[in-house]
Amino acid sequence: MPGEQVVRRCRELARISEEDGRLTRRFATPAMARANALVGRWMAEAGMAVRVDAAGNLVGHLPGSEPGAGTLLLGSHLDTVRDAGAFDGSLGVLAAVACVARLRAEDVTLPFALDVLGFSDEEGLRYGTAYLGSRAVAGTFDPTALELSDEDDVTVRDALAAFGGEPDALECASRRGERLLGYCEVHIEQGPVLEQRDAPVAVVGAIAGATRAEVRFTGRAGHAGTVPMELRRDAACALAELVLAVEAAGRTEPGLVATVGRLSAQPGAPNVVPGEALASLDVRHPDDTVRAAAVGGLRARANAIAAARGLGVTWDGRLDTPGVAMDPWLSEGLSDAVAVLGLPAVRLASGAGHDAVALSALTGTAMLFVRCAGGVSHHPDESVEAGDVAVALDVLDGFVRSLAG
Ligand code: GLV
Ligand code: MN
Ligand code: MN
Repeated sequence: MPGEQVVRRCRELARISEEDGRLTRRFATPAMARANALVGRWMAEAGMAVRVDAAGNLVGHLPGSEPGAGTLLLGSHLDTVRDAGAFDGSLGVLAAVACVARLRAEDVTLPFALDVLGFSDEEGLRYGTAYLGSRAVAGTFDPTALELSDEDDVTVRDALAAFGGEPDALECASRRGERLLGYCEVHIEQGPVLEQRDAPVAVVGAIAGATRAEVRFTGRAGHAGTVPMELRRDAACALAELVLAVEAAGRTEPGLVATVGRLSAQPGAPNVVPGEALASLDVRHPDDTVRAAAVGGLRARANAIAAARGLGVTWDGRLDTPGVAMDPWLSEGLSDAVAVLGLPAVRLASGAGHDAVALSALTGTAMLFVRCAGGVSHHPDESVEAGDVAVALDVLDGFVRSLAG
């Protein structure tokens, strides 16, 4: 059964990790290369020509019968968060591969070409930003991102070069100027609504905007036994104040979600007053003006905390994407394919970010969400039912064929 095969493949792919015992697959790592090799093998088995582009994205190509008819892009990402589940990203790539395999098995040749993309960086785990892969494809990659460093001081440029990519020729990955029919991404819902509505799939209307930043407080390290409390310039205490301010912002503004997911204190010894402390910040809201106001407020708060404690503070913006609406015409096509199966028409807004955000700068985008157990995601318990995946495959198949007229 195709739904079961896709679920099985997602679980097999999830065994490819940088870390023993849990799934972590960051941009341009040896684990990503192994994931690209495995998914590339499945793409080749489905009849696609396979390559890895200048930004480390995996690309499977199935030609169409009419050379001028353009290309439909399908896919999602192959990188993961730390201690991830098996389906975030992978499901969309492997559903697209299954879609191509089905067309080939049924001897259907479309007039347009199909490209299946396995994006190299959607989560942004390694560099604190996001969409390094999909932005290269969209032609919107900001070259200053090449100088970002990971926690081992390896830059994007060096990581990508070591991976076999071409950091100084990223324009080769861009699909700008090509005739494109659009981009369609299947993704797990990552929330509880489809379970509540007893529906297997939903068509996405819009994706909320997001801001990410790294905030660093700098004070003075000292001896934990000898520096009097009133003389300390403790960076971790400032960070603690900011973390609670972030939580309070999310609790007081309806619809705002604000998260500190990574924090550290240096030099990191029990008997040393922390001289430096670092926090990641992630803020989202469906309304961009509300998000911008919240971010501005938190930035002012970080400055005030630092001033009151005699500390330095830096704010390193890593991501700022506006909310994006999906393409109405492509989304209608997806909705029609759902209706043909006699399923309820569920429309959802996405609080999570997706490669469709980056691709919407290039072409029309549409997304199909698949119900996931308990709405759990970014967690190893993430899971989907093979029956729901089979429905998503039928919807994708109907949608793709409908574009052929
Ligand atoms: C991706 O999963 C994101 O929304 O951060
Ligand atoms: Mn995802
Ligand atoms: Mn994710």
